Amino acid sequence: MEGKKILISGADGQLGKEFQKVLAEKSIEFFSFSKEQMDITNFVSVIGTVSDVKPDILINCAAYNLVDEAESNSELANEVNSKALENLSAACKKHNVFLVHYSSDYVFDGTKEDFYNEDDTPNPLSVYGKSKLKGEKIIKENLASYLIFRLSWVFGEGENNLLYKAYQSAKTKKVLKMSAVDVSIPTYTEDIVNATLLSLEKGLKGLYHLSSKGYSSRYEWVKYFMLKMEMENIILPVFKSEFESKAQRPKFSALSNNKICKDLGIMLPYWENAVNKFVMACQWE
Ligand SMILES: NC(=O)c1ccc[n+]([C@@H]2O[C@H](COP(=O)([O-])OP(=O)(O)OC[C@H]3O[C@@H](n4cnc5c(N)ncnc54)[C@H](OP(=O)(O)O)[C@@H]3O)[C@@H](O)[C@H]2O)c1
Repeated sequence: MEGKKILISGADGQLGKEFQKVLAEKSIEFFSFSKEQMDITNFVSVIGTVSDVKPDILINCAAYNLVDEAESNSELANEVNSKALENLSAACKKHNVFLVHYSSDYVFDGTKEDFYNEDDTPNPLSVYGKSKLKGEKIIKENLASYLIFRLSWVFGEGENNLLYKAYQSAKTKKVLKMSAVDVSIPTYTEDIVNATLLSLEKGLKGLYHLSSKGYSSRYEWVKYFMLKMEMENIILPVFKSEFESKAQRPKFSALSNNKICKDLGIMLPYWENAVNKFVMACQWE
C-alpha cells in the first residue's frame, strides 16, 4: 500500500468512518467524500472528483441500505446500489483506478441450509438484494479487475446498525424484543477494513465473502452485546410475525469466509470475539 492514494466514497457511513480511522492510523494517503461532497449517482460529480484526486484505489462505501424502505423506494435503491456503479466503473476505467465495492448476503434467498460460498447462485428476495446484485454485475461487465466483498450484518461506530438502535432503546425500555427468525453473521467494520487493506496489499481480485465466523440470530447478537456492555435489560426472542417487515429476508444467509481466509492466510474472528473487541472500543453515550 506504500505510495498508494485512496479515494473513499460514502465517507459518513459506518464503513467509511472506519476506513478513515484506520488509514489515518497507518499513515496511508486518502481523500474521503460524503454524499454531499460526491454523489455517486451523479456522473459529473464522480468523474470530476476522480480526475481531480487521481487515486490508485477507489473504495466505495456508499450504499442505500434501508432494506424495508427500498420496497417502496426501489428507484432510489437502484440508483445508488446499481446504476451508480456504472458511474464509478466508468471513472475507474478512464483513470485506471482499482475499484473496491461491497455487496450483501441478501443476494441469496437463504434456502441452501448451509453457508453460502462465492460459487453459489444468487436469488435475491428483496428490492435491496436485487439492487446489490445488479451493482455487482455492472462492475463485472465493465471492469477487468476489481474487488467485490459481500458482507453481512455490519456493525461499528456508526449509527446505522442494530446494536446502536438496541443500545438507544435500552435506555428507555427494560424489555427489548428481538427477532430470532433470520440467521446471518454479525461482522465488525474493523475486521472488514483490515481484511480489505490486506487483500489490496496481496493483490487479490474478484468476488469474496467477508464475514466473521459462526452465525447468529438478531436476538442472540443483541443479547450477547448487552451482556458484554453489562446492561441489565431483558432481551426476549420473537419467533414470528411480530416483526413483519415490508422486505422479505433470507432465513439463513450466513456467508462462508473460507476463500478469503485461505487467500489471505488469516483467521477471521468468531462474531462473539468481534463484539468483544467492539465493546472495548465503543464510545456510545
Ligand atoms: N449495514 C449492513 O448491515 C450491511 C450488510 C451487508 C452489506 N452492507 C454493505 O456494506 C457497505 C457499507 O455499509 P455501511 O453499513 O457502512 O452503510 P451506511 O452506514 O448506511 O453508509 C452508507 C453511506 O452511503 C451514503 N450514501 C447514500 N447514497 C449516496 C450517494 N448517492 N452518494 C454517496 N454516498 C451515498 C449514506 O449517506 P446517507 O446516510 O446520508 O444517505 C451513508 O453515509 C454497503 O455497500 C452496504 O450495502 C452493509
